[in-house]
Amino acid sequence: MGKKPLIVLNFKTYTEGMGENAVKMAKYCEEVSADSGVKIIAVPQAPDIYRVACSVKIPVFAQHIDGVVAGSHTGHITADCVRSAGATGTLINHSERRLLLADIDSAIQSARRSELITIVCTNNVAVTLAVATFAPEFVAIEPPELIGSGIPVSKADPDIVRGSVSAVKRIQPDVEVLCGAGISRGDDVAAALELGAAGVLLASGIIRAKDPKAALIDLVGNI
Ligand code: G3P
Repeated sequence: MGKKPLIVLNFKTYTEGMGENAVKMAKYCEEVSADSGVKIIAVPQAPDIYRVACSVKIPVFAQHIDGVVAGSHTGHITADCVRSAGATGTLINHSERRLLLADIDSAIQSARRSELITIVCTNNVAVTLAVATFAPEFVAIEPPELIGSGIPVSKADPDIVRGSVSAVKRIQPDVEVLCGAGISRGDDVAAALELGAAGVLLASGIIRAKDPKAALIDLVGNI
């Protein structure tokens, strides 16, 4: 049995993953992770980080942080604050929360100072190569046109995954590559691993499923 994949579940701003529903969704992640031995990270909205982190033992990540320090930055989200709320990592530059390259760099540096693990999202191989130079822990390649489509990137565009893995491994061998967009089934995860990804980043296939826990069990079942 090869190395188990990492599953990162982004709750986005879906009502099915908000408030008390965020706690419920995170508990499903915790139960399936405990039963399968597959690491699952819950990624709720910022205001829900504390209540989720108090309710589960699995890692809880923020969906975004700003590369600002303590002080007069109204409306920003600091690495220190999400850390103190119980997050142990964060997404950066998600397709739905795009940053300039300089902002990605300052967000990674800020995350590092607060000992947050970083997953930097990218939309193509060139951007993957660019952000890999900042040596985040993870890069997550997600073609925007497949996000929410239910068409898994690992099958619809395998070359973007393969290309991202080889590009990253050329310059930063320690950076792991995840892939996302349209992932919902265990065989989508198996296909991603075949392409050299270390795991997947996903949302609607689980969050909006009729039975999210059953969807999670299927997701980790075929690995
Ligand atoms: O963060 C993961 C997300 O962008 C993928 O969305 O709904 O296609 O799994 P979805």
